[in-house]
Amino acid sequence: MKWLTMLSLSLVLVVAGLAIAEERRDDSAPDGLRPGGTLSQSLPAPPMAGEPRDAGREVLNYPEQPPVIPHGIRDYQIDTRANRCLTCHSREHAVQAGAPMVSVSHFRDRHQQVLAAVSPDRYFCTQCHVPQTDASPIVSNTFLNVDEVLGEMLRQQREGGGQ
Ligand code: HEC
Ligand code: HEC
Repeated sequence: MKWLTMLSLSLVLVVAGLAIAEERRDDSAPDGLRPGGTLSQSLPAPPMAGEPRDAGREVLNYPEQPPVIPHGIRDYQIDTRANRCLTCHSREHAVQAGAPMVSVSHFRDRHQQVLAAVSPDRYFCTQCHVPQTDASPIVSNTFLNVDEVLGEMLRQQREGGGQ
């Protein structure tokens, strides 16, 4: 008989718990880069930024920068079966496709061993290379390229040295 009392008691507790949970207010969700709304609300995502087609290759901000992708990559498949990027950028296809070949660094593995094919750690191209969109920046960017940094240092030296 004791177990029956225990069972009914725990049932009562569960039902009470559910009732309390249902009464909870619809709290506001935290605002991220876009407004959060409330917990039960799902706000529509902002429209996707348009990809400028054929923007042309861009100047690097520093020598080791992975160049940004100057063309659209929508629906380009990169998985274990296929790598669409390599159909144009691989050593054997680059000339015919008129595309720059992946650089020699892409044939070295993490032990600096040179391989015959593109290294597995360079396989997922979009880990490092990204296309550009016409979206306006969400946060402001104060990045200075190396020439600007050097210029600023020289200017400060000239002013500080009094010469
Ligand atoms: C249909 C062929 C083709 C495919 C597929 C392709 N590309 Fe390209 N890619 C090009 C061509 C052509 C250029 C040169 C564009 C120019 O000179 O304006 C280029 C340029 C680039 C550049 C700029 C290189 C530089 O030095 O500025 C990068 C980076 C790049 N592609 C990465 C990718 C990645 C990553 C993918 C896969 C997601 C990809 N590409 C798929 C043809 C292709
Ligand atoms: C781990 C980061 C990383 C990955 C992954 C990667 N790259 Fe790169 N890529 C770079 C960097 C950094 C450079 C510039 C310095 C250099 O050449 O190593 C570059 C340069 C390039 C260039 C310019 C070559 C030239 O001579 O102008 C092309 C094209 C390119 N990558 C295509 C690709 C493609 C296609 C893939 C996928 C198969 C890929 N990359 C994967 C980092 C990466």
